[in-house]
Amino acid sequence: MDFSRITLRPYRSTDVDDLLSWASDDRVIRSIHFTKLTSKEDALTFIDKSTIPWRRSICIDDRSIGIMVARPGSGDDRCRAEIGYALAVEYWGQGITPKAVKMAIPLILEEFPEIVRLQALSDAENKASHRVLEKAGFIKEGMFRKYFYFKGEIKDVVLYSFLSTDPIPS
Ligand SMILES: CC(C)(COP(=O)(O)OP(=O)(O)OC[C@H]1O[C@@H](n2cnc3c(N)ncnc32)[C@H](O)[C@@H]1OP(=O)(O)O)[C@@H](O)C(=O)NCCC(=O)NCCS
Repeated sequence: MDFSRITLRPYRSTDVDDLLSWASDDRVIRSIHFTKLTSKEDALTFIDKSTIPWRRSICIDDRSIGIMVARPGSGDDRCRAEIGYALAVEYWGQGITPKAVKMAIPLILEEFPEIVRLQALSDAENKASHRVLEKAGFIKEGMFRKYFYFKGEIKDVVLYSFLSTDPIPS
């Protein structure tokens, strides 16, 4: 993979079919807090009316193949933001998401100057996601046992963090 082909950009209405192709795929959305999109109309609404504070499309050659989000905290939690990501199945295993996370880190820190900590809570069984975070320079801080309900099941989750002073791996 030539990583120079990867970009992060805002969604456009012309991404609707590409968005729908992974956002309706159970293999992608089974691990994320995301309501399955089942129609073009759903996908367009998702593109046009997002309430997520920071959201970019992960693109290859400008084609939308996944999503990167950040949710900054407020009040006493305003020093941190939680990140999340997903990628269309046909692009898995090429190191695209770790690269996209490394690209997102400075963008998020620049846009939200109060944030000194990025974190990700990942299902303890989602080893691919753990690897993404490790390759992007995140540190594993520990596991929360039986932490929340996820799609009807109580999950153990692993917490990873990246501080604004941490080096982004090359
Ligand atoms: C997690 C996810 C974003 C990984 O993205 P990616 O771009 O494939 O990441 P990588 O290429 O670095 O691969 C990460 C790990 O996935 C595993 N992997 C590789 N190819 C794979 C494939 N074809 N299918 C499944 N997993 C694969 C490997 O364990 C790899 O780790 P390694 O590099 O140490 O071998 C992607 O699998 C995905 O979108 N999953 C569903 C959504 C999700 O779980 N999001 C995270 C929520 S916290």
